[in-house]
Amino acid sequence: MRATSGEDRSPAPPTRGIVLGEALDVLRRLPGESVDMVYIDPPFGTGQVQRLTSIRTGVGASWRKGFRDRTYRWDAVSVREYRDDLSFEEYLAFLHTHLVELHRVLRPTGSLHLHLDFHAVHHARLILDEVFGPDRFLNEIIWAYDYGGRPRNKWPRKHDNILWYAKGRAWTFNREEIDRIPYMAPGLVGPEKAERGKLPTDVWWMTIVPTAGRERTGYPTQKPERLLERILVAASRRGDLVVDCFAGSGTTGAVAQRLGREFLLVDNNPEAVAIAARRLGLLAALPPGPVPGTR
Ligand SMILES: C[S@@+](CC[C@H](N)C(=O)[O-])C[C@H]1O[C@@H](n2cnc3c(N)ncnc32)[C@H](O)[C@@H]1O
Repeated sequence: MRATSGEDRSPAPPTRGIVLGEALDVLRRLPGESVDMVYIDPPFGTGQVQRLTSIRTGVGASWRKGFRDRTYRWDAVSVREYRDDLSFEEYLAFLHTHLVELHRVLRPTGSLHLHLDFHAVHHARLILDEVFGPDRFLNEIIWAYDYGGRPRNKWPRKHDNILWYAKGRAWTFNREEIDRIPYMAPGLVGPEKAERGKLPTDVWWMTIVPTAGRERTGYPTQKPERLLERILVAASRRGDLVVDCFAGSGTTGAVAQRLGREFLLVDNNPEAVAIAARRLGLLAALPPGPVPGTR
């Protein structure tokens, strides 16, 4: 495996590794019908720059109010960000172009997961119906979490949407390999069934990446490995090629690597590629020098 730059002139990107480059450029260099599964978590069309500031407490010139209104000093140790500030019309055109290309590279038995939220999912559903066909829609997975602020005038928005479409009439769904969850009323199903648990529905309750968790990279909007694990276990097989062309901190690659899938990650942010490369043990292939964005 290797990390490489999307600007090199080689005919096609590696089929296993990380590319620093524009998603569309890299996809256009991939042969048609060569990819088994796609998961993408592109910018959500929020119109903002996504930023995550990691802080150190007890030092610095800034003050913050914390638990029980106690105040404490803090200082920013790193600020990581990527842009999500296209106009909404430009954003929908951006989504459309990438989805057409992703459809081209998928094998006839392949499938695509598009991870979005309330900002654009309703538009994306129509775009996918056009590109894949409405009868290729498989599921809208709701990833429900509980984190962050609560508005006073409406229900807190605490879920993302993952649209799953197949390219053709057959697709991978490894029903028997999926993790099982407890029944809501185990007393109604008998001890054996209760012990085994049930197949999750299309609503998945999973926590976000914990602040002090092992997998936390500090990259904004990093998704939890557990979420990707369920997707990859269900919709891909060992040896399959999984593509994530908005890879961020490399969550898809980390899970693919653990599950024995091939993977191709792309991101146009050097900081993301550096974080993903380090996470996947691909640092040796990066140019020498400090990892961008770290101190
Ligand atoms: C929502 S984040 C992905 C987070 C990722 N799933 C994770 O777990 O860390 C979206 C990523 O898309 C990248 N991106 C945005 N536009 C891109 C483009 N045109 N080509 C490649 N990457 C792009 C951003 O740099 C950002 O890292």
